[in-house]
Amino acid sequence: MQKISFSLLAMVAMLFFACKTAPETEKSSIELYRPKIHFTPDTGWMNDPNGMVYHKGVYHLFYQHNPDSTVWGPMHWGHTTSKDLINWERQPIALYPDSLGMIFSGSAVVDEKNTSGFGQDGNIPLVAIFTYHHSEKEKLGKNDHQNQGIAYSFDNGKTWTKFAGNPVLKSPGIRDFRDPKVFWHDESSKWVMALAAGDRIMFYSSPDLKTWKNESTFGEKAGAHGGVWECPDLFPLMYEGKTVWVLIVNLNPGGPNGGSATQYFLGDFDGKTFSPYSIAIKWLDYGPDNYAGITWSNTGDRKILIGWMSNWLYANQVPTQKWRSAMTIARDLRLKKVNDEIYLACTPVSEIDKMIGKRNLVENVKVQGTVDLTEDFDGIKAPFLLEMELDTANDFQLIFSNSAGEKMILGYEKSSNQYFIDSSTSGEIGFHEAFTGKHTAPRISKSGAIKFSLVADVSSLEWFADDGITAMTSIFFNKIGFNKIEIQSVAGITIKKGGLFSLGGPSL
Ligand code: FRU
Repeated sequence: MQKISFSLLAMVAMLFFACKTAPETEKSSIELYRPKIHFTPDTGWMNDPNGMVYHKGVYHLFYQHNPDSTVWGPMHWGHTTSKDLINWERQPIALYPDSLGMIFSGSAVVDEKNTSGFGQDGNIPLVAIFTYHHSEKEKLGKNDHQNQGIAYSFDNGKTWTKFAGNPVLKSPGIRDFRDPKVFWHDESSKWVMALAAGDRIMFYSSPDLKTWKNESTFGEKAGAHGGVWECPDLFPLMYEGKTVWVLIVNLNPGGPNGGSATQYFLGDFDGKTFSPYSIAIKWLDYGPDNYAGITWSNTGDRKILIGWMSNWLYANQVPTQKWRSAMTIARDLRLKKVNDEIYLACTPVSEIDKMIGKRNLVENVKVQGTVDLTEDFDGIKAPFLLEMELDTANDFQLIFSNSAGEKMILGYEKSSNQYFIDSSTSGEIGFHEAFTGKHTAPRISKSGAIKFSLVADVSSLEWFADDGITAMTSIFFNKIGFNKIEIQSVAGITIKKGGLFSLGGPSL
């Protein structure tokens, strides 16, 4: 009895002591870097998003997954689902490697018309189209180790049956021949596949998802070629009543700030050939940590992209413990014109607004020197959404920091017309020499005043400037959460309107 009351007393005392000494933002040591509103695997390794499809009111997200280790290895398709693109529910592993190889990246479609014939008794199949990667064959060097396979599911992606006739598309002797993204092309009544083939994209068509015919090839002399082309996507978006086709091409290495990045082309597509308006380089996101992004299928006119929030330069070394890598926030894609040129802009999906709890608003804050916004924005504990509208486009920097001297700095430099994110002093940086630095992006929008939004989670910042025309994503690993926010401008700016919104749901 006495013993019990003693331990009770001790517990109360310990709790009291802990509350008094632990700063509010201290993180638990095991889950130090786990984000709160970004998807992460519970354990194990994750890279590219795969097979995203909207089906029966649910967004499915599959992903490259090594369940047995926190480094890249035998690839499976992990699976998670969401009704709002923000809150994800983990599901059992969907696809396992087999004798044809590991399951590399790919896509999934709803085969509404049962063109594949997989549907029975009126059941509509979900069909996944993916790359089989055969490691032993790869070692023999005959360039026949990447082939495309399909599988179908009748239980909303939980379990899959692999097609007995796999592979459905064999490598024609091309070393890198992977990442099929498939969609139904209404005008030609056929399935179209965009496939990455080394330094180009090959387009195939099919009546039934089982037999594929090469229609054309694009890109050898277009865009950025600092590395291998991977994970393409092709889809139409409306701009002022006209259909514009967007071709997304992921590239590794060769990104604007080193390593992996996502470029895009705009043009026409007739069911066979992609004809670009321009072959100049355009980046979807200039930050170092947004890769392999593609869009959900079956979402009608709305196009939603999600990316892997890491970079092949250091993805295998980032200092997380039982899991590795998060996805970006899902993003709505829109076309925007700057002068006479159209750009692909991305912004956080509108569903994020439902997560807003506490709202902190400021108006007409003059900044000449340094202004501490911590008190105005007392919801700074991540995750949060920050929105700012400035009066002009002048030099400024926004500094997130903590008592350990860890900082993430982002801002704009007028002389070079560049946005930047500087993660050089953001916390743990020594795990890889290519991690951190001052990463820059051109300000594409020419219109006067700067406005932007920013999504901050425990270990990431996603910056959307000028309605998402310039975007930057950057991860970081700080020991304690940032609890101070300052804005600096020597040249002088005014925050016309600013809002910091906590993203923990209405109770926060
Ligand atoms: C892109 C990528 C894909 C490939 C997958 C393997 O990050 O290299 O091209 O299918 O990762 O995990």
